[in-house]
Amino acid sequence: MQKIINTLFAAALLAGTCLSDAVPFERLNKNDAVLLMLDLQVGLYGPARDFDPTLYNNNMIAHSALGKLFDIPTILSTSTQQGPNGPLPKEILDMYPDAPLIMRQGEVDAWDNAEFKAAVKATGKRQVILAGITTDVCTTFLALSLRAEGYSVWANVEASGTTTELIRDVSNDRTARAGVQLVSLFSIVCDLMRDWRNTPGAPTVIPWLAKYFPAYGLIAQAHGVAIVNGTVVPGEAVLLPPEYDRGLCCLMFR
Ligand SMILES: *[C@@H]1O[C@H](CO)[C@@H](O)[C@H](O)[C@H]1NC(C)=O
Repeated sequence: MQKIINTLFAAALLAGTCLSDAVPFERLNKNDAVLLMLDLQVGLYGPARDFDPTLYNNNMIAHSALGKLFDIPTILSTSTQQGPNGPLPKEILDMYPDAPLIMRQGEVDAWDNAEFKAAVKATGKRQVILAGITTDVCTTFLALSLRAEGYSVWANVEASGTTTELIRDVSNDRTARAGVQLVSLFSIVCDLMRDWRNTPGAPTVIPWLAKYFPAYGLIAQAHGVAIVNGTVVPGEAVLLPPEYDRGLCCLMFR
């Protein structure tokens, strides 16, 4: 009997440990978020080989454009940019001429740089949305340091890049175990927006998506075109649910 009790006790302890380790569900709040563009430097773009290069460039730019869409504070940083890593792409610099740009002279983990740390703290925000090159070094080191300091971290997995898919996967697994939320661009947009009727909402978010996330934005364009000047072509009518009965549709437009 004592043995059974001991076993149950051990199981309860184990469950308790697992539960206390779990990161509670938390939603992004546009009033408590800061956006980081970390080492998305032209010289590091080459080693970002786990995406098609055109797609990856679009992803970096889209990540950067989140700050404009939701009017959230933005911080840029580079690592030894006078060396092979180079500066940030012009398109990102042009987007944020007034944002803090912390040029680290040696620190690999941005959190080791006092100026960077001060810039993040100065925003007063506790939710950090970030992407960096490379995923296993720049993104992972900073994400883990932020978690250790009690920040909530959302890593845009589409905008961090590294040399191989294996390295991406083990790095994302590592940060996820520290409670970093690994998320897509679309997930960040919808979490920050929350409701299409909010501001920013449908009137600005849909055009933004058409530019940066055509998988959804172009559907909106197709829908708009169909409503304004569309017609049900032969073969389509049979696909429609009964309440979209052709008779009803044509009566409405008569
Ligand atoms: C709108 O629909 C009419 C009738 O089907 C068609 O003649 C016209 O070319 C359409 N306009 C555009 C811009 O597609």
